[in-house]
Amino acid sequence: MKIPQPFQYQGSKRALAATILEYLPTGTERLIEPFAGSAAVSIACAARGRGKTFWLNDYNAPLSKLMDKIIHAPEEAAAVYQSLWLNDAETALRRYYQVREEFNRSGNPLLLLYLLARCVKGSVRYNADGLFNQSPDKRRLGARPETMRRNLLSVSAWLRGRTRITGFHYQEVLADCAPEDVVYMDPPYQGVCGERDARYFSGIDFDEFVAALARLNDLNIRFLVSYDGSLGTRAYGKPLPAALDLTRVEIHAGRSAQATLLGRQELTIESLYLSPRLAEELRDSAACQAICTQEFLFV
Ligand SMILES: C[S@@+](CC[C@H](N)C(=O)[O-])C[C@H]1O[C@@H](n2cnc3c(N)ncnc32)[C@H](O)[C@@H]1O
Repeated sequence: MKIPQPFQYQGSKRALAATILEYLPTGTERLIEPFAGSAAVSIACAARGRGKTFWLNDYNAPLSKLMDKIIHAPEEAAAVYQSLWLNDAETALRRYYQVREEFNRSGNPLLLLYLLARCVKGSVRYNADGLFNQSPDKRRLGARPETMRRNLLSVSAWLRGRTRITGFHYQEVLADCAPEDVVYMDPPYQGVCGERDARYFSGIDFDEFVAALARLNDLNIRFLVSYDGSLGTRAYGKPLPAALDLTRVEIHAGRSAQATLLGRQELTIESLYLSPRLAEELRDSAACQAICTQEFLFV
């Protein structure tokens, strides 16, 4: 099942969403994403008819406002995108810089949709003054307006009427979780999130994050965390401590495009950590028995 995304986003879990969903309990009442980004996991969950309600949160305020517009006013979002999109590469380049300037002046989230569709690697970058400064991808024009409109309408149909959208710091979201919730966390990458703007991409403090996970354990709240991993023989990110009693699942994220270009065959493996209560529930369920004997490893 190919699930449309509203926009390209660096670090999106789109390609891994189906695998991550295998570890979600059936009958999930509310799925919470404190670091939602493009919300790939929640979108896949809703599209597959899993999960009753959703809470999407991202500290990047224009991004969470954009998600709100996509879900609650998709026609307006599609119309603004159509009015900005151009077929001619050279004029489109000038348009990109104009839109970027206007976005930095007004903060209009609908302009961010156009910037995300056109910027390098779907990667959000802000300078020290908090201004969006990512360059345009000169090889691409961004999704055609009719494709964009279709994607936005699909995402809206799946999530409208059952999704809360906020722009809080993740700690505020975790403080408001209840035992019937399931929390999926995909924090900014360790060590690679630009240090320039502490509001969005400073990376999160490791010890604070670990303490927050320990509190969720104390409250018996089920959660999953995408965190560290490896690329070929190189590990990236610091593993989460054993004291949290998490179960680490290795997810094969495919071949690294960069390494393939350099003639190497390197596999990317991402860790998905399951909270003790979730791992226990999954071990008891028949579905997990099947998963454990197939391609995924509980380690
Ligand atoms: C790796 S991305 C998430 C990608 C997402 N899983 C997807 O599929 O698109 C991490 C997100 O965390 C957000 N973020 C960074 N610091 C945060 C904080 N302190 N609280 C909440 N969100 C934060 C960033 O804006 C970014 O969108």
